[in-house]
Amino acid sequence: MTTVRVALGDRSYDVVIEHGLLARAGTLLKPLSRGRTMVIVADENVAPHLATLQAALAAERVASEAIVLPSGESTKGWAQLASLTDRLIELGVERGDHVIALGGGVIGDLVGFACSIVKRGCGFVQVPTTLLAQVDSSVGGKTAINTPAGKNLVGAFHQPALVLIDPQVLDTLPQRDLRAGYAEVVKYGLIDDPDFFEWCEANAANLLAGDASAREHAIATSVAAKARIVGEDERETTGRRALLNLGHTFGHALEAEAGFSDRLLHGEGVAAGMALAYGYSAARGLAPKADAERVIAHLRALGLPHDLASAGITADGETLVGHMLHDKKMNAGTLPFLLARGIGRTYLDKTVDLSTVREFLDAQRG
Ligand code: GLY
Repeated sequence: MTTVRVALGDRSYDVVIEHGLLARAGTLLKPLSRGRTMVIVADENVAPHLATLQAALAAERVASEAIVLPSGESTKGWAQLASLTDRLIELGVERGDHVIALGGGVIGDLVGFACSIVKRGCGFVQVPTTLLAQVDSSVGGKTAINTPAGKNLVGAFHQPALVLIDPQVLDTLPQRDLRAGYAEVVKYGLIDDPDFFEWCEANAANLLAGDASAREHAIATSVAAKARIVGEDERETTGRRALLNLGHTFGHALEAEAGFSDRLLHGEGVAAGMALAYGYSAARGLAPKADAERVIAHLRALGLPHDLASAGITADGETLVGHMLHDKKMNAGTLPFLLARGIGRTYLDKTVDLSTVREFLDAQRG
């Protein structure tokens, strides 16, 4: 078992990572139950995990009530938020209670946001079931829903009281989702940990093939990195937390061009986005070309999108930069970019001239 502390003063919490943890989660959740029924909000795709979790609670004599929601991004909308908050209130959830979010990023984001507003804020626990949610979205307290204008545009910072990560649940995750989630793992190596990037180069294939210790190590290292960065800049005000957006500005443009659909999953957009961020940094002479090539080669070897063509994007630079202008990171007319000086040397650049990005993307179209 690995426990990572997210140190945020009176909002501090533990992230517990252990193979098979779900079946033993009752002992960790019981103290949060206060002798009351715990509400679990779950994705319909994780029914077997829901059964395991409810049995684990029952073994500790903790009653639970499940709300099962449809899977997919459309669950993160206003209507679903309204019906979930109504249901939580109907079930008598109090401020001191802890609602359990069991599922991927969609469930975590929706439940976290609902819990930030029910009774002006109640507790919640994240039990992420996708690799992407385990290494990124379940830790750090960003919660949101999508609106007709875009993704994650309405939300709140609301930290969970506990995060329980069971790498065993990844055994039933489709390979494509696992690979897409891996993009957020290797991101931590590229941000500021070249040794971890090297570890990823040597171990990613095993991790994707199901090696339990590789999975646990990758998750624990990623969560420790995220906890450190969130502890330094919880609300993304100093630029430190913005490092976690590596690959997301280019990736956002690709995802927008793909209509935020299954044509390009978020993690796939991030993978191609990181390759483009390194490629652009090398093209500008900021990073060694060999480092950009190393990043691209690693993503290609794993079957992840690593350029426009492999991401299925044929749009020109003008169109893609147009999508970037709708990025929620726009700040007083400028778009901050995460660029790199080398592997593990990501930095925030607020002076990027978008015409150079347009030219770079046009050149990428070949
Ligand atoms: N996913 C980026 C962050 O949590 O800041």
